[in-house]
Amino acid sequence: MKQVKKLNTPRSNLFAWFVVLAAVLAYGGHARAGTVTLCVDKSSAAAPMDTRLAQAVARHEGATLALHRFDGAGDGDDGLGAKDFHRLAAQCDLVLGFPVDAGAHGAPMPGLHATRAYGHTGFVLVTPRGKGWTSLASLPAGSRVAVTYQTTPNIYLADHPKLAADVQLDDAATLKALQSRKDVAAMLWRPTVVSQLGERGLEQHYDMHELDESHARFDLVALYDDAHAEAAKAFEQAVAAMAASGELAQTLAPYAQPGAALTAVAGAKSAERRVFGAARTRHAADRRCAANARAGKSRKPARVPTLYTQAQADIGKAKFLENCSRCHGRDLGGMAGPALKGANFASAASHFHVGDIFTIVSQNMPATQPGSLPKDDYVEIMAFLLQENGYPAGSTALTFDQAKQSKVDFIYRGQ
Ligand code: HEC
Repeated sequence: MKQVKKLNTPRSNLFAWFVVLAAVLAYGGHARAGTVTLCVDKSSAAAPMDTRLAQAVARHEGATLALHRFDGAGDGDDGLGAKDFHRLAAQCDLVLGFPVDAGAHGAPMPGLHATRAYGHTGFVLVTPRGKGWTSLASLPAGSRVAVTYQTTPNIYLADHPKLAADVQLDDAATLKALQSRKDVAAMLWRPTVVSQLGERGLEQHYDMHELDESHARFDLVALYDDAHAEAAKAFEQAVAAMAASGELAQTLAPYAQPGAALTAVAGAKSAERRVFGAARTRHAADRRCAANARAGKSRKPARVPTLYTQAQADIGKAKFLENCSRCHGRDLGGMAGPALKGANFASAASHFHVGDIFTIVSQNMPATQPGSLPKDDYVEIMAFLLQENGYPAGSTALTFDQAKQSKVDFIYRGQ
């Protein structure tokens, strides 16, 4: 009793208060004087969301915000590469708004770390409001769906043979095809829909639904390097507090929703590929996902199926030289177009199927005249691409439909 009484003397109280006050000053003073530097991609359709998030995080940390707005579109067609992201991560505490395919594994950017996912977004089905079409499967047979040339949603249609693709050259044209009622639905990157409809004041006329397809759902993370681990921790704490109060949902809407992507949909097990990327669609987001694919290491699967005949591959070679080599190189090493051979092209991490690659080839190539070759030519060229990537020839010929539907993994097997 006496002890307690003694501790409660005014003098020791004063001392206790002093300790608390010093702690508050040290912490608060540091935070107030501190600056958090956050990188935001100004070329991204989601830039307004990223900026709001940066402001909210700084407020929660009691820090001054230094916003570094970089141009994710880069100078070239390919957007930023790993080197650019390393430079950004050194300049900023965190690089916000990096989308990662929900089914991807491994580090989204080699050599950098990612925070826990704070939101999710992706490719959505856009339909006129109130139609009740929530997925590709729910669209009436024969429906035309607008989709942008060389974007991921092109591959979804391979699984929905009753729908017709209306391939447009860019996202604005895709949205226009929907607006003019030429098509009943469109598939686009959610932030793009939000910004383009917003600009035209048309949000209330359309519904957006998350697509239940492979490579449609993306988690949003912030990237950082070794030197900024503390900043990443503070960021995650701020985000957790915002999630608890509902502020996060408000900050991300309508570009994204809080939390990680709910489901990695059946079959959605991979990182994004460069090709679907954005050279032409200008989704900085898409472009960045390329790095995901490149981050993966290639592995040799146990069983190698035979999918085509040697005769097909031989004709395919000639057709390739005639129609493809001026952009992809005579040795498939890449020139104006990317390499079509090797671990970078066909990596295990990207988890693409033969059918996915064939869809690109038959629908989008040659880049100057997509879909212009006879069906057989595409099949034979595909046989040649398989051979060049280490797939053995067999006794059964590949057909157009088989190629299109093939779920065999397309992974470089060395030679
Ligand atoms: C005029 C140039 C050009 C021609 C001709 C051309 N391509 Fe392409 N191809 C490209 C470009 C550019 C890309 C990359 C597109 C992008 O990233 O936006 C590409 C991408 C591809 C991809 C995806 C590569 C990856 O990394 O995922 C494949 C497969 C492909 N082309 C196959 C072909 C085939 C087969 C032919 C011949 C039938 C062909 N291309 C003809 C320019 C061309």
